[in-house]
Amino acid sequence: MSLLVGPLVAAADAYEIFRASEVHDKPDIPVISRDNFVARLAHPWPGSDHEHYLAYVDGMPVGYVDMELPYLDNLGNVQIQLSVLPGYRRRGVGRALVDMVVERARAAGRKTVIGHVMSRHPDGALFAAAMDAKPGLEEVRSRLDLRTLDQARIDGLYADAWRHATGYRLTQWTGVPPAEIVEDVAYLDSRLNVDAPVGDPSWEPAKADAEKIREGELRAARRGRISYHAGALLGARLVAWTKIAGDLVGEAHAWQNITLVAPEHRGRRLGTLVKIANLAHVRALRPSLQRIDTCNAASNEHMLRINRAMGFRPIDSLTYWQMTL
Ligand SMILES: CC(C)(COP(=O)(O)OP(=O)(O)OC[C@H]1O[C@@H](n2cnc3c(N)ncnc32)[C@H](O)[C@@H]1OP(=O)(O)O)[C@@H](O)C(=O)NCCC(=O)NCCS
Repeated sequence: MSLLVGPLVAAADAYEIFRASEVHDKPDIPVISRDNFVARLAHPWPGSDHEHYLAYVDGMPVGYVDMELPYLDNLGNVQIQLSVLPGYRRRGVGRALVDMVVERARAAGRKTVIGHVMSRHPDGALFAAAMDAKPGLEEVRSRLDLRTLDQARIDGLYADAWRHATGYRLTQWTGVPPAEIVEDVAYLDSRLNVDAPVGDPSWEPAKADAEKIREGELRAARRGRISYHAGALLGARLVAWTKIAGDLVGEAHAWQNITLVAPEHRGRRLGTLVKIANLAHVRALRPSLQRIDTCNAASNEHMLRINRAMGFRPIDSLTYWQMTL
């Protein structure tokens, strides 16, 4: 066997490895299309540089790693996504790619490499332990099945939430936020790593400003992703915000992403309010939507309680692992 690791030259090869690995390890989550994957390479989230490497066995591409190097914050960290074709595992391919990651991370002055593994298959966790990585944050993936949704219960929760939220009003949008609230969105976004449990001391709050938010949404659209948002306003200020995003191809599935209430407005059911409002918003614009998945820190009891009340049910979990260089 000859094993070689080199920079990514063929995005289609990387996609095939990524796709096969995703189907194997997360069979219930639709894999993004090849076009979206290629567009993601060209239009990553603002704020990070990426390096991509493929591993070849006897000339055949069988392993792929995406190294994300943040350059606005988290300057000591590298985040990786590593996949090896299921038929080529346990042959040293993952280890060779991690060796390359470590070499490149050190050259870039980084101190920590972070990756996540799904708990459904043992491969990821056993591999991470063999790489001498340490387990950190555990997240639960929960799913809301819209085909069996208890709408009467949701309506009840919504009416009850309004009784605690007098004085606020709702707003909704898709993609880039309206100019008058984009600064507030950036503020709420930048609070995520401060307020939500990260369970990992080396992960700093991400910096966000209006330009990064705008650019992030524009790039997501170029990657074939559409985002649906709802927020609560007090006067002209956006004080609570939630986002659902999904690919244009594969309308049946979407992800519930960030939900954040500004600290001084907590305890007024705004989290519940904006999430339920956004559910109606996304259903109106994406009528064939059937499933929404979300990941939350296992220790984030407030968010999990709202999700459970809405009907989200846990389906699996994932763990972030961290290597200290
Ligand atoms: C995790 C993954 C990348 C490992 O790739 P791989 O090429 O099989 O890994 P290697 O062959 O280099 O394994 C290195 C060591 O990890 C350990 N290991 C890896 N998979 C294992 C398994 N299923 N059972 C037990 N040990 C395992 C072993 O100690 C192995 O060394 P050994 O074979 O000499 O005993 C691959 O399983 C994968 O793509 N999983 C899905 C995605 C994922 O979890 N990515 C990792 C986080 S970003």
